[in-house]
Amino acid sequence: MIGYKFMGKAHSHAYRDVSFYFDSEVEPVLQAVCGRNDEGVKEAAEKMGWLSYETDWRKLIARDDIDLIDIVTPNNAHAEMAIAAAEAGKHVFCEKPLAMTLEQARRILEAVEKNGVIHMINHNYRFSPAVQYAKKLIETGRIGKIYHIRASYLQDFIMDPKFPLVWRLDKEICGSGTLGDLAAHSIDLARFLVGEFKEVTGVLETFIKERPLVEDSSGLSGKASEDMTGEVKVDDASLFIARFENGALGTFEATRFAGGNRNGNRFEINGEKGSIRWDAEKMNNLEVYFHDDEPGLQGFRNITCTEDIHPFAGAYWPAGHIIGYEHTFINLIAELLHGISKGISPSPNFHDGVRNQAVLAAIETSSTTKEWISISSLLEER
Ligand SMILES: NC(=O)c1ccc[n+]([C@@H]2O[C@H](COP(=O)([O-])OP(=O)(O)OC[C@H]3O[C@@H](n4cnc5c(N)ncnc54)[C@H](O)[C@@H]3O)[C@@H](O)[C@H]2O)c1
Repeated sequence: MIGYKFMGKAHSHAYRDVSFYFDSEVEPVLQAVCGRNDEGVKEAAEKMGWLSYETDWRKLIARDDIDLIDIVTPNNAHAEMAIAAAEAGKHVFCEKPLAMTLEQARRILEAVEKNGVIHMINHNYRFSPAVQYAKKLIETGRIGKIYHIRASYLQDFIMDPKFPLVWRLDKEICGSGTLGDLAAHSIDLARFLVGEFKEVTGVLETFIKERPLVEDSSGLSGKASEDMTGEVKVDDASLFIARFENGALGTFEATRFAGGNRNGNRFEINGEKGSIRWDAEKMNNLEVYFHDDEPGLQGFRNITCTEDIHPFAGAYWPAGHIIGYEHTFINLIAELLHGISKGISPSPNFHDGVRNQAVLAAIETSSTTKEWISISSLLEER
């Protein structure tokens, strides 16, 4: 694994726990973790249970006792690391967004395909049992033809103008702001549940254009410099509307300026026979409405998706004994291990990563041209 902070912790935990809950032909061995700081990576390796560590990611990839490379570094490093890992014949698991640009994402996909390695991207939210069950309801026709998806991903951790210019706000490192960080997850959920995007148009806004430079950061927090500032060149909020190939319409909002919303990743889907709602902060629950419920009793019902019938839930506790954020990672990694044992790249894989990146690129372009951008023509363009 390359990187060891926020996602490093989530992935390490999942590798450690996955065999406890899921039977798999392949068992992960936490062979080596990589970071640039000798002391920091040594401490992380000890704490998170890695057997050894490296301070140069190229050395990690060159090791012949490693089969899978997991990339949990900021976005600007994904392409180089993923391509090098694939060329060394390693399977690749990469954090989202897959890359900084559509062109980079395509090159990553080409590299894994050319080298015949297994690949997955970490859109963990779709591995919540409630979201998986929503997919089942949609696939079995319970809500009929889909008319709408209304998705929002709302955070508030950068509202203070003194919050520093962490890598998530540094265009050179992250590529985009809320778009690649938050909207990418909503796009994945929409592709998973509704279908392929046909065309999009959007607006991006940066509310705070100058911030203190960062002295140290991890995950969503950072220490601000006292006297140096820099320009913010990424979006603080991204809003877009979409048409899907199947005729559905989507409205999307991703922002880091929605006070009181810490990690409000939510969607509502409306179909001809019913509606479905989900909120990541109440991730065990799915709200479902059916038009054909008895008159007088119609309304959203609140289901706790912890029964054996809810995908992945049966691996954990008796019904009603809830699971949390970390279990979405365990579920995804169980799929990854299954894929490695069967020689397949489960979805979401790098094909999904490329399609997601195309939607991100289209929103970005449309925010300046003020036009609708066709996703299929973007994907066909070379
Ligand atoms: N799936 C999710 O819900 C989710 C949530 C958070 C972050 N992410 C993604 O995960 C990735 C990492 O985000 P994070 O929040 O964990 O960041 P972080 O800042 O907490 O950690 C990044 C890690 O990468 C290391 N690193 C950076 N450059 C490196 C290099 N050249 N060689 C070795 N190590 C290097 C850093 O030292 C650090 O350990 C990003 O792509 C982000 O978009 C996904």
